[in-house]
Order: sequence, then C-alpha cells, then structure tokens
Amino acid sequence: MNYNLSKPVQGKGLSNYAAFKSLLKLISHEKKRLALALLATIGNSGLSLLGPLLTAYAIDTYVMHKQYHGVLVYSGILLAIYLAAFGISFLQTKLMGTVGQRTLYSLRNTIFHKLQHLPVAFFNQNKAGDLISRVNNDTDKLNQFFSQSLMQFVGSIITMTGAGIFLLILNIKLGLVSLLPALIILVFTRLLSPWVKKKNAQNLKTVGGLSAEIQESLSNFKVIVAFGRRDYFMDRFNEANKKNFKTAAAVGIANNIFLPFYTLLSSIAQLMVLAYGIYLIAAGQFTIGLLVSYLAYANYFYSPLRQLAALWANFQTAMAGWERISEILDLENNMITIEDHTRQSGAPLLELKQVHFGYPEGREILHNINFSLEKGKTYALVGPTGGGKTTTASLIARLYDPVKGKVLLDGKDIRAYSPEERTRRIGFILQDPFLFTGTVRDNILYGNQEYENYSNAQLEEVIRAANLEKLLAIFEQGLETPVQSTGEGVSLGQKQLIAFMRAVLRKPDLLILDEATANIDTVTEKLLGEILEKLPVSTTRVIIAHRLNTIENADEIFFVNDGEVTNAGSFHQVVDKLLHSRH
Ligand SMILES: Nc1ncnc2c1ncn2[C@@H]1O[C@H](COP(=O)(O)OP(=O)(O)OP(=O)(O)O)[C@@H](O)[C@H]1O
Ligand SMILES: [Mg+2]
Repeated sequence: MNYNLSKPVQGKGLSNYAAFKSLLKLISHEKKRLALALLATIGNSGLSLLGPLLTAYAIDTYVMHKQYHGVLVYSGILLAIYLAAFGISFLQTKLMGTVGQRTLYSLRNTIFHKLQHLPVAFFNQNKAGDLISRVNNDTDKLNQFFSQSLMQFVGSIITMTGAGIFLLILNIKLGLVSLLPALIILVFTRLLSPWVKKKNAQNLKTVGGLSAEIQESLSNFKVIVAFGRRDYFMDRFNEANKKNFKTAAAVGIANNIFLPFYTLLSSIAQLMVLAYGIYLIAAGQFTIGLLVSYLAYANYFYSPLRQLAALWANFQTAMAGWERISEILDLENNMITIEDHTRQSGAPLLELKQVHFGYPEGREILHNINFSLEKGKTYALVGPTGGGKTTTASLIARLYDPVKGKVLLDGKDIRAYSPEERTRRIGFILQDPFLFTGTVRDNILYGNQEYENYSNAQLEEVIRAANLEKLLAIFEQGLETPVQSTGEGVSLGQKQLIAFMRAVLRKPDLLILDEATANIDTVTEKLLGEILEKLPVSTTRVIIAHRLNTIENADEIFFVNDGEVTNAGSFHQVVDKLLHSRH
C-alpha cells in the first residue's frame, strides 16, 4: 500500500455535492442542534422576506393615500420583525459556533487515533510537519466552515429561494427578467470552482510544507549549528515560505474573484428590474408599491448571492482541507491481524521462511532469508553498515511485513498475534531509542501495565530482582530523574540503558538489541552482558553489534550482508574459519 500522502493513488477529487455530503456526515451526530439552527435560519429568512411585502402593502394602501397613521403602525410591525430576526440569528450563531468547535475536537481526535494506528511505513513516507499541519490547520478550515459559513450558506440559499419565488409570483415576466443574470452567475461559478479549489489545495499543501520545514530544522538544530549551516536551512525555509506566499496570494485572488462579478451582475439585475418595472407601471400593469417591494426582493435575491461568493470560497477551502484529512482517514493499515490456527509442536521460537523485503517504493533489501531462532539461545547479527541488520530485526518484531515469505512465531504466522501479545513476547531495543518527556520511571514503565501502580520502592524491588539495580544507580535521581524527549539531560548511552531496562522489565521471550551497547562504556557493557546472562534461561537473545566482545558468547552468528543472511556458526567456529581462510 502506498502511504505517501504527497502522491495519493486515489486522485479521486470529490464532486462538490459528494464533498458537501461527506462534510455533513461529519456533523451528523449534532442532529438536534443542526435542526434547531436550521429552524432558526428558516425563521430568520422568512421574517426578512415578509418585510418587502408589508412595505409594498403600506405604500400602496397608506402612503399613496397619505394615511400616515397606517405607515407608523407598519413601521412598528417591521421593526418588531427585524428585532425578532436579529434574536433568531443570534441564537443560530451560538448554536453553530459550538457545533464547529465540537466537530473540530472530535475530528482531531479521529485523525490522531488514525495516525496512532498506521504502520511504521506510513511515518517513513510522510513528513511529521505536514501531518501536524493536517491535524492542526486543515481541521480548523472545517471548523471555520461549520461555525461561520454553513448556516449562512443555508440561510442565503433559503432567502434566495424565497425571494426568487416572490419575484416569480408577483410578476412572472419581471421575475424571469430579474433572474436572468443569476443564470450567468451559476454557469460562471460552476466553471470557476474547480480552479478555486485547486488553488486552495495548493495553498494548504504549501502550509504543510512550511510546517515540515520548521519541524525538520527545529529537531535538527544541533547539526545545523555544528555545521554552521544556518544559511542552508534559512534558504530552504525561505523557499518554502515563498511557495506558501505565492499560493496564498493566488488563493486570495481565487477566493475573491467571485465577488466583483456577482456585484456587477446583481447591479445589472436591479437596473433591468427598474427599467422593465417602470415600463410595466406606465402600461398600467404594475403598482409603485409592488415595484419597491420588487426591487427589495431582487436585492434579497442578489445580496445573499454576493455573500454566497465569499461562502463558496470558504466551502472550497474547507473541501480542500477535508480532502487532505480524508487522505489520512481513508488509509487502511495493511498490517492486519490474520487468522492462523496452526500450532506446530517443536517449532522454533521464531522462523523466517523465504522472506523477501523492500521498503515501500524502494528496491528489494532482503532476498530470500531463511533462518530460525531457538528458545533460550543467543544469536548475533553482524555485518557491514547498511547490510540489512536493522531491517531483519524489524521484520522479526513485525515493524514491517515481508513482501514475500513468512515470519513464524512458535510455528504460527506472526501476523496472527495481536499487537499486545506480540510486543509482550518480543522486546526490541532500537538502534536509536526514543524517550518521552517525563522521568526515568515513566520511560521504563512505558507499555508495561504490570507495574504501573507500583510505588517507587516496589518498583526498585522489581528492578533488583531483574538485576537492573546497577543500571538504575547510574541515574543521579534514580527513578525520578527527569528525561526529555529531545534527549537533553541524558546521554545517548543513558538513553540506551533506559530502553534496555524498559525492554527487560517486560520479560520478553525474545529480546532484540540493535547496537544497544554502541554508546556504552566497556564497564557498563560488561554489566549489560551479565544482566543478559541472568535473564531467564528460556529467553532468546538477538544481538546486533559491531564489537567482537559483545558477540563472543553467541551460540550462533548470522552474517548479514547485501540482503543475504548466512549462518556462520558459533563465535569460535567463525574465528576458526577466519584463521583457516588466512592459510
Ligand atoms: N526506512 C527506510 N526506508 C528506505 N530504505 C531504508 C530504510 N531503512 C533502511 N533502509 C535501507 O535498507 C538497507 C539496510 O539498512 P539497515 O538499516 O537494515 O542496515 P544495518 O545493517 O542495520 O546498518 P547499520 O549497521 O548502519 O545499522 C540500507 O541500504 C538502507 O539504505
Ligand atoms: Mg542498523
């Protein structure tokens, strides 16, 4: 599966209607509030539409006959109507504001949840900054649409429909004349919308790019300072910023292009009504009061249309954001748990059978790998840099699935185990361990529910029983030593020690150490060796290391080079072979 969001395979591009429907689905759980807001909108529009009719009546019955008392009464009625409309529209704004915020809240949770459940390959292929921008910025575009635009959008359409009906009922010919410019607007909008949406999508993409650039330079600031390459990142940032500026400027034009056009055509409509209306009055087919109300209805029809121009742009922005969000939501984790009930007795703890693997969009890295790991034995994976050791270990721990072939745990397909069971049984200390901001305690208990509620004293007891107390003693404040995710405050070696304790305390059946001792002094390394030896006899250990002394005690050594894994026998056999080949 392609997880690269910048190259979506779907390329679907929803139609306006389909996108609108899928947007509405997002707020379907808000049915009650939406219904109320809709009622309020209809009420508001209905009340506003009454105005011109009452005015027409007041003009034709009272003003024309100079009965000013009636005019006063009608003014009072109109004032009451406008005040009621104001109250209702206030209520509607309040209702929809919370709908937008709640949708934003649940949408962010949904996306974050989805992100948490996507495989490692997804994170390899996408930049963190762009993902952050999708969760933060794109969702907010939807919030703006829901809280500010949606009901205005609906309200405008209701008012326009109502005004349109009045225009046609009062005088069909005049009605048709006044609606003609609207037809031109409709065609123009339809033609222009895809272009406007594209401009919005490009803009959101560059916002994502900008955010990715910031994230990358902030997390690598030390390298940047050490190499004096501030100017390099400044240039890159400048480039991303420029792109963003250009697309933002284009969006500004695209989103505002409707307005002047709509304004022009609505003025033309008013003129046409006026000219044709006066002609009809002269011909005795129309009254002055009706013409005044007619002009007002034409205004009621075309003003919301102008508003719709702005709202339409908002809608296009929201849709562009929604498409970027859907790209994440539509992704399926292809690392599913499958059914496999075979259970071979006497099967090795772990076995790789004819495994082929390549990273997504890359060449094949591992070719036809076959080996098995027995219970309780110690294995070493050695070989040149880039040979495929970490990749092999990642397949054992199921960070990825093979492209071809199988990984078996206890004779059963590793894909048949739940993630909880798999991670409980297989401990993997990564080459570059990651720590969370918190304390040593938080970090060694990560993913370990067994000791979650233990007091520090109880936990220290557990640590002693696992022979880890000498490691803990390296940390000045013991369990309470503060740790930051950026790794400040602890050395790389100390980070590896925390990762080591984290893995050992989970008592895995299989413990993989990827260069876990690369940054540790020889005294501490010896200590780790002792701890490894004292692990339960049934624990299988896989050690990836460059230093010979680390793998001295391995029962079997696998040589990993150029995507091939060969069993070279025990340490002594390897040394023997080497000595032989010298002669
Ligand atoms: N996330 C990734 N995406 C694409 N290719 C990768 C990725 N990780 C590693 N590779 C490629 O896979 C090959 C094997 O890398 P791997 O990390 O397994 O080597 P290694 O033996 O662990 O090396 P080292 O001793 O430096 O840790 C390399 O050619 C590397 O470029
Ligand atoms: Mg490696």
